[in-house]
Amino acid sequence: MERLDKFISGQKGMSRSDAKLLIKKGVVAVNGKTAKSGDAKINPETDTVTIDGKNTVYRKHIYLMLNKPQGYVCATEDNVSKTVMELVPEEFRRDGLFPAGRLDKDTEGFVLITDDGEFAHRILSPRNHVPKVYYCELEHDCADDYAEKLANGVVLASGEKCLPAEIKINEKKNTAYLTISEGKFHQVKRMFEALGNRIIYLKRVKIGGLSLDEKLVLGACREIMHKEIAEIEGVF
Ligand code: URA
Repeated sequence: MERLDKFISGQKGMSRSDAKLLIKKGVVAVNGKTAKSGDAKINPETDTVTIDGKNTVYRKHIYLMLNKPQGYVCATEDNVSKTVMELVPEEFRRDGLFPAGRLDKDTEGFVLITDDGEFAHRILSPRNHVPKVYYCELEHDCADDYAEKLANGVVLASGEKCLPAEIKINEKKNTAYLTISEGKFHQVKRMFEALGNRIIYLKRVKIGGLSLDEKLVLGACREIMHKEIAEIEGVF
């Protein structure tokens, strides 16, 4: 059992006092009956809580797919730049949401936002080798030896050796899909620099077995369905 005001603030990402205000306004109902007080106890698994007649469906965790535009940083707060959290629609906001992994400010594409720390750790840990696929546009055409060099693990200018990566060079040879399974700082950019090339546009299109939804326009966000979560971890 949980206090009603605590449940609403957690699910909606609002303060406890704002949740209390909503209840006072008489717009919150539990199982169809208008709630009178925030200290009422509810069972989140079995009680139906509505705000303005809309179901507040209980979920232990939430998983969002964002198509990140350029100009946003992957952080929960930033003093200078806009954060990806600003792109999360009101209906998905709740306590503890954070971007699981970072894309650079000028990189676009799939960012997973969740409040499930354990899941985030599993997909980010290099030990679990969850592959991430990037669409890359480059200053120069890809050379024929890239595939072999990347498969052997390129050595970055810093001296760090990368895990084996896979490249699929497109017909337009200055574009390619690169699959990596770790997440060093600016990794893709530094890998191509090590090959004597330079990224001019970068977009993450896949995490694990789950591709970025083509219907999601830049800046849009949608919930990741239960079965898709399994695809992230399982089907490579
Ligand atoms: N590699 C990069 O260089 N930048 C990103 O944003 C992601 C991977």
